[in-house]
Parts: sequence; C-alpha cells; structure tokens
Amino acid sequence: MIDIDLYLEKEKERINRALEERMSLLSASEVAGAMRYSLQAGGKRLRPILTLAAARTLGSEDDSILDVACALEFIHTYSLIHDDLPAMDDSELRRGRPTCHLVYGEAIAILAGDALLTLAFETLANYGCRDGCQGRAIKIMAEFSAAAGVEGMIGGQALDLKAEGRDLLLSEIEEINLLKTGALLKTAVVCGGIAAGASKQQLTALGCYASHLGNAFQIIDDLLDYSSTAEELGKPAGADQIRSKATYPALLGTEKARKRAEALYSEALSALNKLDCSTDLLQSLAKKLIYRSR
Ligand code: IPE
Ligand code: IPE
Ligand code: MG
Ligand code: MG
Ligand code: MG
Repeated sequence: MIDIDLYLEKEKERINRALEERMSLLSASEVAGAMRYSLQAGGKRLRPILTLAAARTLGSEDDSILDVACALEFIHTYSLIHDDLPAMDDSELRRGRPTCHLVYGEAIAILAGDALLTLAFETLANYGCRDGCQGRAIKIMAEFSAAAGVEGMIGGQALDLKAEGRDLLLSEIEEINLLKTGALLKTAVVCGGIAAGASKQQLTALGCYASHLGNAFQIIDDLLDYSSTAEELGKPAGADQIRSKATYPALLGTEKARKRAEALYSEALSALNKLDCSTDLLQSLAKKLIYRSR
C-alpha cells in the first residue's frame, strides 16, 4: 500500500524543483516577476502530480515527463491569473496571496498569463527534442491545444461567465465543469499515459477516469466555496454566491451535490478497471481529490 501523503509531498517537491529550474532560465523582467509570483505562491500541483502518477502506473518514471508536468502547471497557473481578473471572477486572493493583477496591475497580469501559456508550449517543444520523444511530444501538444483552447478550458470559462445569474440545467452545469476544469485534468492524466507509451485502450480508460474526476473536482471546489474559509482555501470563500455562479450546489443544494461528486468518484474508479495493471496510486489520488479540504 502506498503512503499517499508522503507520495504527494515528495512529488510536489520534485515538481517545484523542476518548475524552479525552468523559470530560472527566464531573464529578469516585470512580466517574469509576475509569472514567478503566481507560480511560486504554492498551489497543490495536482495536475502535474496526476501526469507523473499516470506515467508511473504504466511503468514509466522517466524525469523527462517532468517537462509535460511543468507545462500543465504553467497553463493551469495562467488560467488562474486570468480567472481572477476584474473582467472575469474579480478576485483579490489566490494561493494565499493578493492576486497577480492587484500586485502587478491588470496589463502585466494579462501578459504574465499569456507568457505562461506560451512557455508551456516551449517546454513541450523541448520535451520533443529529447531522444525518442518527438512523436509523443506532437501527440501531447495536440492534446494540450484542444484542452486549453476554445473547445476546452477557454470555452468552459466563457460559458461559466455567461451563466452568472442564470438558471441552468444540470446538464449545462456539467458541460461547464467538464470544459473549464475537466479538460485540463483529463489532459494531465492522458498525457502522462502518452509519455509512458500507453496503448489506445489504456488512453481511453485514463481519459474516462480523469473526465469523471475533473467534473467531481469542480463540484468539490464549489462545495468548498460554500463551506470553507478564505484562510483555509487561500482564495475567497462565498464568492460564487456573490457572483451568482451556476454550480451544482447552487442548483441541487450541498448534500445532493456531494452525492453527485461521490458518484462521479465511483465512476472514475470503475474506469480504472479497464487498465491491465495495478491502479492503487490513481485510486488513492482520486480519493484525495474528492475528500480534500482546500
Ligand atoms: C483551482 O484549482 C481552480 C479549479 C479548476 C477549481 P486548484 O484547486 O487545483 O488550485 P491550486 O493549483 O491548488 O491553487
Ligand atoms: C476556475 O473555476 C476554473 C479555471 C479554469 C481557472 P473557479 O472560478 O471556480 O476557480 P476558483 O474557485 O477561482 O479557483
Ligand atoms: Mg471562474
Ligand atoms: Mg474563480
Ligand atoms: Mg471556485
């Protein structure tokens, strides 16, 4: 049995070192400072951890996969900087610090987000320059582009903003969750698989696991917004109600929303049955994501 807390701590340190290494290559500038500020604020690093865990599940622990893991964290951090902007969720706290635009101003925060997105693709290109990684890198870039783009995270963010103050159907909220959050989470897991040389069938199972997990992850995020504090979350609590966001708890109530997240967690675990290897690690990670307090 894996000690999941120890595993998370070790992998987080490994990812933070890799992020630091890549950031240290940037020359000093205001935008680079803003990128560093948001990146180093201390996120949970769940997406890169999922990438490494999917690869490890399929038997690969190669350090080169850290390129893919870091690229995900760059894109995720960019999405948070932009999500907090006054034109979007207008938030003042992120990862326990004042938001990027409050410290650096809106223009630099927008550019820092753009630069993190660009850096992600540069990092993937570097991955493709490693021996034997070219074919996998191209597949990974295709996954990243689709997940981060207008038919993925960006599309979901646009729907999320448009839904403020409106009553949506459950299926519409589910679509938002799957796009704005599920797409990147799925890419994290699937690209770990691609980097480890997974078969088509294995990638389908990994994708199915991660989509359910992504939807559940956003429901838990919405539940924590209801029940937790800014101190615990490192970001404002109660913000979704103030902005009349269309969420599962807003539509169903907190109890039914939690039940839905737990049902999705079960579906994620079932999807792993299709993988012909031990999936203890991915099972434990799913549990951690669903029963988290921040
Ligand atoms: C927050 O993601 C945004 C959502 C998609 C819900 P995380 O909860 O993973 O945030 P960090 O990376 O730990 O700050
Ligand atoms: C954000 O969802 C999803 C992203 C793509 C960044 P939220 O707006 O609920 O995320 P938080 O609560 O601000 O972290
Ligand atoms: Mg948002
Ligand atoms: Mg937000
Ligand atoms: Mg939220």
